[in-house]
Amino acid sequence: MAEFKEISPDAPLAQKTLNWIDNRFPLSKLFNEHMAEYYAPKNFNWWYIFGSLALVVLVIQIVTGIFLVMHYKPDAALAFASVEYIMRDVPWGWLIRYMHSTGASAFFIVVYLHMYRGLIYGSYRKPRELVWVFGCGIFLALMAEAFMGYLLPWGQMSYWGAQVIVNLFSAIPVVGPDLALLIRGDFVVGDATLNRFFSFHVIAVPLVLLGLVVAHIIALHEVGSNNPDGVEIKAHKDANGIPLDGIPFHPYYSVHDIFGLGLFLMAFTAIVFFAPEFGGYFLEFNNFIPADPLKTPPHIAPVWYFTPFYSMLRAITSEMMYVLVGCVALAALGALFIGRLNAIIKVGVLGVAAVLAVAMLTIDAKFWGVVVMGAAVIILFFLPWLDFSPAKSIRYRPSWNKWLYAVFVINFLILGYLGVLPPSPVGERVSQVGTLFYFGFFLLMPWWSTKGEFKPVPDRVTFKPH
Ligand code: HEM
Repeated sequence: MAEFKEISPDAPLAQKTLNWIDNRFPLSKLFNEHMAEYYAPKNFNWWYIFGSLALVVLVIQIVTGIFLVMHYKPDAALAFASVEYIMRDVPWGWLIRYMHSTGASAFFIVVYLHMYRGLIYGSYRKPRELVWVFGCGIFLALMAEAFMGYLLPWGQMSYWGAQVIVNLFSAIPVVGPDLALLIRGDFVVGDATLNRFFSFHVIAVPLVLLGLVVAHIIALHEVGSNNPDGVEIKAHKDANGIPLDGIPFHPYYSVHDIFGLGLFLMAFTAIVFFAPEFGGYFLEFNNFIPADPLKTPPHIAPVWYFTPFYSMLRAITSEMMYVLVGCVALAALGALFIGRLNAIIKVGVLGVAAVLAVAMLTIDAKFWGVVVMGAAVIILFFLPWLDFSPAKSIRYRPSWNKWLYAVFVINFLILGYLGVLPPSPVGERVSQVGTLFYFGFFLLMPWWSTKGEFKPVPDRVTFKPH
């Protein structure tokens, strides 16, 4: 046990109270370690506000969620009406509900930008692999949270969206139908489904999410933040062990983040008050109609943040399977030319490719669509081990990398847009090309990340005082 620290009896009351607490709980120690003596690189730019913003949105979702649960009824016969009651009769209920629904979309906007920052500055690279892996876990949990939350208003899109997605699981060979039954708790989406999704949405997934966020920040503070130059500030320290290019997070970045939060809240409140449905993108118009198990809407589309992945799911048709088999064959042939691999491994690769190709041609394309959609998220976990570039940050990578990243973003947006639209022959082709590009970007990264002319990485961060 640490020594009790004595303080002058004449000290101000606030100081005496803090000393009393510090002798029993490491309050000042935690504040110093994570705020006042957490040295962050002095060259952060505006890309660095999204982590704090994600934390704020998480708090908004939890607080508004608590108030929604006070009036919401997780019962298939009452759910839709209870949401209408919140909107019309509960004092300020409309505000709480719109903050929660806008918060869901805001969460994804903030998190997508936060992830993109990590991507362009190589923040997933050594020693921050676990920061990234925990982040990917958060992303997965966030998707589960949003998906289950969307069923709760029990509107037409809630109902049919859940029906479509849960049915996908039944495409898994052998266990699929039983798995879908287990998820739904019934043969169709019904009251049992609503109850279990409610339970997961309000307690199970938020607990996982909170645990992962804590792990994410502990891991980050263990290794220290990356920065737009992608150089390690810990490599140059003063006599006291403080990084020469570091500045205390508090007050420098706490103030910076509060400024960013001000801007964010302006946009957030503008949407909440003036455009909460956001043209049908944040709240789909069909969801203002109560769920009707006997009436399938003509077009079922998930909310915008799922649509890039939904497009990849729809891109996998039985025709597309031949292209994918071709890709597997090419990859296996390519492995034969890798000098470092020995003969046994090469034979193994050919064997696995052959089995995979047979499975791809015999199992229904719907199943492979599910695999591709899942793989599109899972592949992100492996990013730290796919990038072999000598420079972390895009700033010092070959200039054409910027174009590649731009195409990656445009491709992701196009996939997202196509996922909102009803299926069409042209949309199908475009999403097939987009899916191949998405996976090509990651799977070929070990090769392309080493190519081109790299700029010299500076020893210290670049910083212009302003
Ligand atoms: C609830 C969601 C999340 C919260 C609250 C959160 C919070 C934070 C915070 C506060 C920081 C430090 C400030 C900053 O660098 O922006 C950070 C850094 C980081 N986060 Fe997240 N994060 C979330 C999701 C994610 C996701 C989904 C990923 C990636 C898949 C991710 C990857 C990273 C990385 C790589 C860093 C270090 C960045 C650097 O040092 O350059 N985070 N996060």
